[in-house]
Amino acid sequence: MSGQNSIAEEFCAKFGVKPHIYRAPGRVNLIGEHTDYNDGFVMPAAIGFYCWVAAGPRRDQKLVISSEGFPGQIEVELSKKWPRPSRSWSDYSVGVAAQLEKEGFGLSGASLLIHGEVPIGAGLSSSASIEVATAIALAEESGLSIDRTRLARICQQAENEFVGMRCGIMDQFSSLHGRANHALMLDCRSLQFEFVPIPESVRLVICNTGVKHKLAGGEYNRRREECEEAVRSLAKVLPGIRALRDVSREQLEEHRALLSEVAYKRAKHIVKENERVLNGKEALRQGDLRKFGEYMAQSHVSLRDLFEVSCAELDLMVELAKREPGVYGARMTGGGFGGATINLVDARCAAGFAEKVAKAYQEKTGIACATYVCTPVDGASRVESAGLSQPKRHDRLRGL
Ligand code: GLA
Repeated sequence: MSGQNSIAEEFCAKFGVKPHIYRAPGRVNLIGEHTDYNDGFVMPAAIGFYCWVAAGPRRDQKLVISSEGFPGQIEVELSKKWPRPSRSWSDYSVGVAAQLEKEGFGLSGASLLIHGEVPIGAGLSSSASIEVATAIALAEESGLSIDRTRLARICQQAENEFVGMRCGIMDQFSSLHGRANHALMLDCRSLQFEFVPIPESVRLVICNTGVKHKLAGGEYNRRREECEEAVRSLAKVLPGIRALRDVSREQLEEHRALLSEVAYKRAKHIVKENERVLNGKEALRQGDLRKFGEYMAQSHVSLRDLFEVSCAELDLMVELAKREPGVYGARMTGGGFGGATINLVDARCAAGFAEKVAKAYQEKTGIACATYVCTPVDGASRVESAGLSQPKRHDRLRGL
């Protein structure tokens, strides 16, 4: 992969030692949108765009973090108070380091050089890939063994608390637990998961609208509040419920009068989207791609009309996709308000599909559209750096 050697060499030049190289993938969500923070079900897959981190030990009890893509360097003294968020790229890494320490994992001094490849603002989890790559690098450089689910929670917590985005766990979880050629069906309450094979005969084609509307962050947190408001109202008559995950279609209709119009619409999306994930899993297992595609289409309409997180560009991209041969399903993916669509497309048609949709989109909007033809990849790992001799495992330096 492109980033690996250049980042290793740049690290050597900058810090004078050979680094270990780690990488964490972005993800695309096939179905189950905005359900993760409602304790519901999601079905993402890790994709072959990575955040790369080159890391090596330091003796001065500092974390020194720099990024190939951004100027400046962050220095944190591990024994001192953690810096406040700076509202920049470094918050994702510093937030993870702070969270690891907060949870009692003592970190060793380390230098980190970050190279992000996941397209930013496309809804493909560029943020989670930075968090996860940082987390596995810091854990391993510090000689800590932390299980992947715990790491996913730590990264999510960092984003919730340090970055201030109240995201669910889907992105970090899929970056850590993804498996090649499979989608990951995750129960976001129990964190139990299963892998669902993606047939060789299809590709995941991602079409990036090239727009990211400003309201994305604020509106995301607002959706979460609206879902919480729905739960509070329904809990008055359904005392056992903790999240929209616990509400059935029938219960929602029966108690509709307790909810504001907005809260009702949000809740209806979540309740039905959870059903779609579960049914979608069965359809995929049976190889019924057409059925799965129908659930994707329903998901898009629901995100557009009930959850109201789509936008004109995403709707257009979905409409353009539907006209093409070999398409089973098309929908927006990720948080919304711009970003990308995910299309399940017959492998033989995938390249032509990507080209035609991009062309039609550009004709209509004037915006150049990047498309990616993907198959699912494995989750985050340390990689051997090709062309460079592997550095020896270092001793723990903390306290020296
Ligand atoms: C963002 C968040 C995820 C999830 C999706 C919507 O990607 O980070 O936790 O809520 O939006 O499904």
